[in-house]
Amino acid sequence: MFGSFLLPLASFAALTSAHFHIIYPEWRGDSLELETASQWIWPCANISETTNGTRTKWPTAGGSIMINGSHEFAFTYVNLGLGDNVTNFNISLVDNFNQTGAGALCLKDAVKSALEEGLKAGNITGGTDGLDGTNASLQVIQISHSGSSLYNCMDITFSKDAKLLDDEQCKNGTGVGGAPIGASEAQEAAQPSASGTTQPGAASSLKPFIGSGVLAMVVAIAFL
Ligand SMILES: *[C@@H]1O[C@H](CO)[C@@H](O)[C@H](O)[C@H]1NC(C)=O
Ligand SMILES: *[C@@H]1O[C@H](CO)[C@@H](O)[C@H](O)[C@H]1NC(C)=O
Ligand SMILES: *[C@@H]1O[C@H](CO)[C@@H](O)[C@H](O)[C@H]1NC(C)=O
Ligand SMILES: *[C@@H]1O[C@H](CO)[C@@H](O)[C@H](O)[C@H]1NC(C)=O
Ligand SMILES: *[C@@H]1O[C@H](CO)[C@@H](O)[C@H](O)[C@H]1NC(C)=O
Ligand SMILES: *[C@@H]1O[C@H](CO)[C@@H](O)[C@H](O)[C@H]1NC(C)=O
Ligand SMILES: *[C@@H]1O[C@H](CO)[C@@H](O)[C@H](O)[C@H]1NC(C)=O
Ligand SMILES: *[C@@H]1O[C@H](CO)[C@@H](O)[C@H](O)[C@H]1NC(C)=O
Ligand SMILES: *[C@@H]1O[C@H](CO)[C@@H](O)[C@H](O)[C@H]1NC(C)=O
Repeated sequence: MFGSFLLPLASFAALTSAHFHIIYPEWRGDSLELETASQWIWPCANISETTNGTRTKWPTAGGSIMINGSHEFAFTYVNLGLGDNVTNFNISLVDNFNQTGAGALCLKDAVKSALEEGLKAGNITGGTDGLDGTNASLQVIQISHSGSSLYNCMDITFSKDAKLLDDEQCKNGTGVGGAPIGASEAQEAAQPSASGTTQPGAASSLKPFIGSGVLAMVVAIAFL
C-alpha cells in the first residue's frame, strides 16, 4: 500500500494532527475543544474527573466502547481503573490492537474476560457481579507510529441494569476494522491475540483483546 510512501511523514503527521473522539461511553470532556485539555497529556488529557460529573452506567460484565479515529491505523489500548478518582488504570481491557481505517469503531461486547482476569489479578472478590454500583474510569490510549501517545478517559458506574449498545448504534464505519499488532495487512478480522507484549501507558498486561468479554477499547493513531 502507500504505507512505505507515507512513512517519512508519519511522525510529523502524528504530531500535528493525530487525535480521536470518544463516542461511547461519554468522555470526560471534549479534549479537542477544551482550552486546558490536550490528548498528549497522561493519563487523561488534562481533564480531571471532577471537571464534569458525567458518569455513564455501564454493564457489570463490561459494556460497549465506541471511538472515532481520524487515522488510517492506530495502536489502541483500553485500560480500567476502579474507584472514584482513579489514577491507577491497572486493568487492561484491550491490548495489542491495531485499528485500521479512519472512522467509527465499535466494540460491542469485547472485554468481559479481560475484566474478569483483571479483577482476579487484583484479588477483587465477587467477580463482575460484585461491581454493581462501583465507580470506575476507562482510559483509551493510542500510540502513533512515532511512538507518541494520545489519551482520553471516560467515567462510568458499573450497573447490573445497564445494557450494551444496540446494533443500530454500535457500527463500524465503512472500511474500519482491526487486527492484532503485527498481523498481515490482509488480515482484517479481529482475533484473540496470543501475544503478551507489555503495554505502553499503564497497567499490568492482562490481555484478552477483542472477542471475549465486555468492556472495550479503541482507536488510535498514525498516518495522515
Ligand atoms: C459535560 O457534559 C455535558 C453533557 O454531555 C457536555 O455538554 C459538556 O460539554 C461537558 N463539559 C465539559 C467541560 O466537557
Ligand atoms: C492543565 O489544566 C489546568 C487547569 O485544569 C491548567 O492550569 C494547566 O495549564 C493545564 N496544563 C497544560 C499543560 O495545558
Ligand atoms: C467521525 O469523524 C468524522 C470526521 O470528524 C466525521 O465526519 C464522522 O461523522 C464521525 N463519525 C461518527 C460516527 O461520529
Ligand atoms: C481527584 O484527584 C485529583 C488529583 O489527585 C485531585 O486534585 C482532586 O481534588 C481529586 N478529586 C476528588 C473529588 O477527590
Ligand atoms: C493477590 O494475592 C496473591 C496471593 O496472595 C499475591 O501474591 C498478589 O500479590 C496479590 N495481588 C495484589 C494485586 O494484591
Ligand atoms: C490496581 O490498583 C488498585 C489501586 O491502587 C489496587 O488496589 C489493585 O490491587 C491494583 N490491581 C493490580 C492487579 O495490581
Ligand atoms: C460515584 O461517583 C458519584 C459522582 O460522580 C458519587 O456521587 C457517588 O457517590 C459515587 N459512588 C460511590 C459508590 O462511591
Ligand atoms: C468493529 O471492528 C472490530 C475490529 O475488527 C471488531 O472486533 C468489532 O466487532 C466490529 N464492530 C462491530 C459492531 O461489528
Ligand atoms: C497496522 O495496520 C496498518 C494498516 O493495515 C499496517 O500498515 C501496519 O503494518 C499495521 N501495524 C502493525 C504493527 O501491525
